[in-house]
Amino acid sequence: MEKEELLKMLNHALELEHAAYVQYLSHAELIDGDNAEPLIERLKEIANDEKTHQEKFRSLIGMLGGTPSMGIAETHPAKTVREILEQNLKDEKEAVDTYRKIYGAIVGGRGRGYYDMLLEHEVRHIIMDEQEHITELELLLGKSGESY
Ligand SMILES: [Fe+2]
Ligand SMILES: [Fe+2]
Repeated sequence: MEKEELLKMLNHALELEHAAYVQYLSHAELIDGDNAEPLIERLKEIANDEKTHQEKFRSLIGMLGGTPSMGIAETHPAKTVREILEQNLKDEKEAVDTYRKIYGAIVGGRGRGYYDMLLEHEVRHIIMDEQEHITELELLLGKSGESY
């Protein structure tokens, strides 16, 4: 795969992470009432994971000689706790689909150098984090056994 094409995919991933970060933080501010605190804390912890993912994607893009995007993908509003959990679950699943495509492109490439291994390692790690987020959101929604 062309490096430019990979950079485009990684920048799209970075923009998804920007969106996920602000979306979790914005949604966290909407939750109130009894027992709100643990859920607010959990959404903020997930936001923090997304921030770590941003940093990783940014450094991978820089490593490949690209310019990290300052753009942000579409964010999605939600009002109730249920809407918040369902919306973010949907967005996490879309992120996993996107990152799996990136992972496939990396693994399908011919390179076996250090940078290819690092790319593969980092993207795989991020996918695993998102899968944890999916599992957690499903548990919070009272679902289980439906994760990727
Ligand atoms: Fe993420
Ligand atoms: Fe996530």
